[in-house]
Amino acid sequence: MNVYFDNAATTPIEKKVLDKMLPFMEDGFGNPSSIHKRGREIKSAIEKSRTMVAEILCCEPGEIFFTSGGTEADNMFLINTVLEKKIDTIITSKIEHHAVLHCCDFLNKSYNTNIKHVKIDEKGKVDLEDLNALLKKNKNSVVSLMHGNNEIGNINDLKSISKLCDQHNIVFHSDTVQTVGHYPINLNDINIHGIVGSAHKFHGPKGIGFLYLNNKHKISPFIHGGAQERNMRGGTENVYGIVGLSEALYLASENMKPHRDKILSLKKHMIDSLKNKIKGVEFNGLSESADQSLYTVLNVSIPDIQDQQMFLFNLDINNIAASAGSACTSGSDSGSHVLNEISIKKNNVNVRFSFSKYNTIEEADYVVDKILEIKNF
Ligand SMILES: Cc1ncc(COP(=O)(O)O)c(C=O)c1O
Repeated sequence: MNVYFDNAATTPIEKKVLDKMLPFMEDGFGNPSSIHKRGREIKSAIEKSRTMVAEILCCEPGEIFFTSGGTEADNMFLINTVLEKKIDTIITSKIEHHAVLHCCDFLNKSYNTNIKHVKIDEKGKVDLEDLNALLKKNKNSVVSLMHGNNEIGNINDLKSISKLCDQHNIVFHSDTVQTVGHYPINLNDINIHGIVGSAHKFHGPKGIGFLYLNNKHKISPFIHGGAQERNMRGGTENVYGIVGLSEALYLASENMKPHRDKILSLKKHMIDSLKNKIKGVEFNGLSESADQSLYTVLNVSIPDIQDQQMFLFNLDINNIAASAGSACTSGSDSGSHVLNEISIKKNNVNVRFSFSKYNTIEEADYVVDKILEIKNF
């Protein structure tokens, strides 16, 4: 068996998505900025994609800007908001993705922007009272708190956070890379200034994403060049990427409920099976919760195994792709910045399994059996 349980890192592209993209690599190669027919046809495909994305997220097409992915969209929002609105403080959490955290580091080092971290509890849950206190003290700030955590799966309640930000008249940005295409997002319902998406997290192509920028929140171009993306991002558009993103988001949204039900029952099955077979197994963050954690992510803490890298290597030998969710430098595991901030059993091995609609219960059983085998070896 060959099991891919690393879908929070990236998902396989869907065949129907690829089929939509291919004509734009073949005959539909025109430059969307050209005024002749070949160019105009391509431009109209881009605008059709923008409208599809906007309809799914319940916003205006003019509020969607295509980017090279989630990282660029986070950078575009945070850097240009802070610099242009002369914001002095970013309120965020220590368990955000590096796309946000390293952006904050850059702004702090280069522009002296203050970075304040909202308190989280031992499971990684954001303390809304502390957020409220930070908002009261820091009037000239922007809040950046992610929707779904890519390592432990914790879900933040965007509505509650947006209400608090609204009360204090503070700009709110959320890294929604792990939830776009997996959870319904209705931008009519939430007062938020920016969210981001990345196609390769919902069976679309890599290297394409978007920034939703609320019409009321104007910022300057992030990449200077031609007039593409209504002057906001110069450079010839990634046409097939854009077409692929909108098709992938459309397919994900059309079938969200059945896919969600399928993946959630797989996750529950894996939790039960791990609990039955592995004494002392635990789940990091809010991973075990059905409603406070992404149904696609399960972060498992396994006792009586010492070597994290060796464990992942053994999974790999058994054709199981999973992840530690941490970066490794020159042989020494620097550890996951997310797990370092929450309460975990330091002597356990911590592994993230992340699922997609293509995974099966048989695969989950195979993985649990292999974990037992590796553990008992
Ligand atoms: C929460 C989160 N934010 C941002 C990113 C970066 O997205 P991209 O790979 O499109 O730059 C990822 C992808 O790993 C992610 O999981």
